[in-house]
Amino acid sequence: MWRPPERIRYNAHGGRWPDAAQAAAARLFSPIKVGPITLAQRTWVPAMVPWRASETGFVTPEVLEWYERFARGRPGAIVVEATGIRDVPSGPLLRAGHDRFLPGLRDLVRVVRTASEGETRLFIQLIDFLAIRRRPLPSRFFGEFLAITAQHRAAFADPEATDAEVRSWLVSLPPEDAAKVLDARELNSLEFGARERVTDTHLDQIRDLPAQLPILFGNAARRSREAGFDGVELHFAHAYTMASFLSRSNTRDDGYGGALTNRVRLPLEVYSRVRAEVGQDFVVGCRFLADECIAGGSNADDAAFFGTEFAHAGMDFLSLSRGGKFDDAKQPKIGDAAYPYTGRSGYECMPSYYSDAAGPFGRNLESTARVREAVRQSGFATPVVAAGGIHSFEQAEACLASGKADIVGFARQALADPDWFRKVVTGHGSQVRLCLYTNYCEALDQRHRQVTCELWDREALDEPGVRLSADGKRRLTPPPWKP
Ligand SMILES: Cc1cc2nc3c(=O)[nH]c(=O)nc-3n(C[C@H](O)[C@H](O)[C@H](O)COP(=O)(O)O)c2cc1C
Ligand code: SF4
Repeated sequence: MWRPPERIRYNAHGGRWPDAAQAAAARLFSPIKVGPITLAQRTWVPAMVPWRASETGFVTPEVLEWYERFARGRPGAIVVEATGIRDVPSGPLLRAGHDRFLPGLRDLVRVVRTASEGETRLFIQLIDFLAIRRRPLPSRFFGEFLAITAQHRAAFADPEATDAEVRSWLVSLPPEDAAKVLDARELNSLEFGARERVTDTHLDQIRDLPAQLPILFGNAARRSREAGFDGVELHFAHAYTMASFLSRSNTRDDGYGGALTNRVRLPLEVYSRVRAEVGQDFVVGCRFLADECIAGGSNADDAAFFGTEFAHAGMDFLSLSRGGKFDDAKQPKIGDAAYPYTGRSGYECMPSYYSDAAGPFGRNLESTARVREAVRQSGFATPVVAAGGIHSFEQAEACLASGKADIVGFARQALADPDWFRKVVTGHGSQVRLCLYTNYCEALDQRHRQVTCELWDREALDEPGVRLSADGKRRLTPPPWKP
């Protein structure tokens, strides 16, 4: 992963932990209304993909155990990992694109209700993503994948040449010479692997996204409701389809790109279809970017506009993330796919302990506050969820007290210690296992391996009933905590 060149090292500090009486009086542990429901406390576990679904997208015993373990810590809400809305193969990522996924999703809701004794509210993040290919061998790229055009024939100096003739000429050249005939997009496909973009309106499936996505999101949201979730989080953040519609890089000319009002149009149409499917008594919110953190990308001003539009439309919460784009991702090795958390924008999304003067803790708070301020100034009370490097009670409480956010997300800190919430609220904060922000977990995610935390995954491997990773070297959930 990219790191700021300053390489200033930061360590997370627990600071002062409250006793049980102080915790009971804290904002963090006070209830908050989110649309039609109330969270018992303003703590939130943001979506994290743990790579535990089956190859066909079903909930597995490992998925159940993972969320059960988070629920025992009793945060105000858990958002289940990004879950695909289409009924297409997408590897071991959860899916909600067909009714056959319902029984597993119902089990997931049941284990969280039981483990938290009904205290933790459960949302599911619904995602759409576009096709991406692995970085090809140059010989396969020129020999098979490249669509031969007049430009390539002109370089071959024979406008009548067949595709096969142009291909065999290109394959015969040293790859760096062959690359000279490519335009910028083709070169990017050679160097990074081909990737669909929302601006590829010459492709039927991309042109038709505005017609199809509202239906797909709507159906997946209806299934989420049928499975018993309290609500859905529409994934409008990071490198995925909906965020690409919101991005300043979206230059579609069909009314869904360009000006801010056009870029927000499809997200609003998705929302309205989802709302029509699930009704008013089910939570519908979204996660989007306070800042894309890429050259020429959307910034906090754009996000303030989007947030206000979402609040105006009737969304029940707004969760802000940061960065995580393909645009500045590192070049993958041949045979690997690009990963959107390897460049500077990836660092902004999951900042690690080597940082710059701003540091990794609360890096997204000012932009989040900017969005919240705009939403409040427009007269909406929609709760805003902050995340990014938050690990201590004092940080979380200050974030609420200063009005930067209404709910505090703890992603990696909850992975490091899912009992954080129970420990702190019962006055056992000094027993919290603090996240190191090394991104060991994120590196596992990048390699599509079952995500665990270095702080607990080698502990008590011989404990009876403990479930181990595929290689048998790591436990998949942290050991239990007893007060
Ligand atoms: C292993 C892992 C998987 C993640 N998966 C998702 C995801 O599915 N959806 C999402 O919106 N963010 C995802 N994130 C980002 C987190 O939700 C969060 O925004 C980020 O880690 C910063 O918050 P933190 O500093 O509290 O960890 C993931 C993060 C990690 C570490
Ligand atoms: S592996 Fe654990 S300690 Fe390291 S960043 Fe992830 S959650 Fe934090």
